Amino acid sequence: MKHFLTLADLTAAEMHHILNLAVRIKQEWQAGNAPTYLKDKVLGMIFQKPSLRTRVSFDVAMLQLGGNGLYLSPNEIQLGKRESVADVARVLSRYVNVLMARVFAHEDIVELAKYAGVPVINGLSDYVHPCQGMADFLTILEHKGTFQGKKLTYVGDGNNVATSLLFGATLLGMDFTIAAPQGYGLHPAVWDMGRRLAAASGARIVVTYDPLEAFVDADVIYTDTWTSMGQEAETELRRKVFPPYQVNEDKLRYAKEDVIVMHCLPAHRGEEITDAVADGPHSVLFDQAENRLHAQKAILVWCMEAD
Ligand code: CP
Ligand code: NVA
Repeated sequence: MKHFLTLADLTAAEMHHILNLAVRIKQEWQAGNAPTYLKDKVLGMIFQKPSLRTRVSFDVAMLQLGGNGLYLSPNEIQLGKRESVADVARVLSRYVNVLMARVFAHEDIVELAKYAGVPVINGLSDYVHPCQGMADFLTILEHKGTFQGKKLTYVGDGNNVATSLLFGATLLGMDFTIAAPQGYGLHPAVWDMGRRLAAASGARIVVTYDPLEAFVDADVIYTDTWTSMGQEAETELRRKVFPPYQVNEDKLRYAKEDVIVMHCLPAHRGEEITDAVADGPHSVLFDQAENRLHAQKAILVWCMEAD
């Protein structure tokens, strides 16, 4: 059974395979001759948190692949409250061919995968956001042509999105720099994994508290919300801590001339990113959003492929 829970579970060869698949599926879609790789298959989509991109892109992906997406809202399933995670996994596996879940605790997606009789895809947990990561590396590949020797800088909160970027970059051999305020960096266990992957790929990792240092010579600047879903009680505190890490035109001057700016969205314009940058010439925010569709088709096809 092939689950897609975190990029760190993949080998570099698998990561490249899924990216190549995404490139091909996107080309077929653009040419108007997309094969229905998942004809009559059903994807169950469990959501514990709100979503625009994940919900719609998975739904449309299944439709365009010849199958169906089934949206299950937080109130319907009440994962772990109305029914245990293990029982939800066992029941849904009798109805659907593949499952996607957006959860709070990463342990819940691991538990789903443990008891499901079908592949499970992580549509975001508090730990990682691997579908976003796959779409992001597809976007980087399209704009930069290669990962080797390119500098990806993440500025802001060391959250689920940052963790997936670290895992993806170090798998692919891309240099990764993160600038986060003290106390908001990546978890030590995440670093251990990142360093292990980097040792195999040759990627360089830089950690700093200084956002300007991180911007220097960057090929890609990436940021995300200062307050992730589930951390709402900390919003005011975080609004005081994070402003020096805002992605704005002043800081962008330190990056390479052809730098691309990325954000997984939803954006809090005027907080982690300014309108001028989000809507400016370096922004690829909506390419990223579109690539969720193509990357997730590749993930779905990969999960359903025989080994
Ligand atoms: N980027 C992302 O996952 O967006 P949604 O929360 O809208 O799905
Ligand atoms: N880090 C954000 C990503 C949203 C797509 C969150 O978890 O809320």
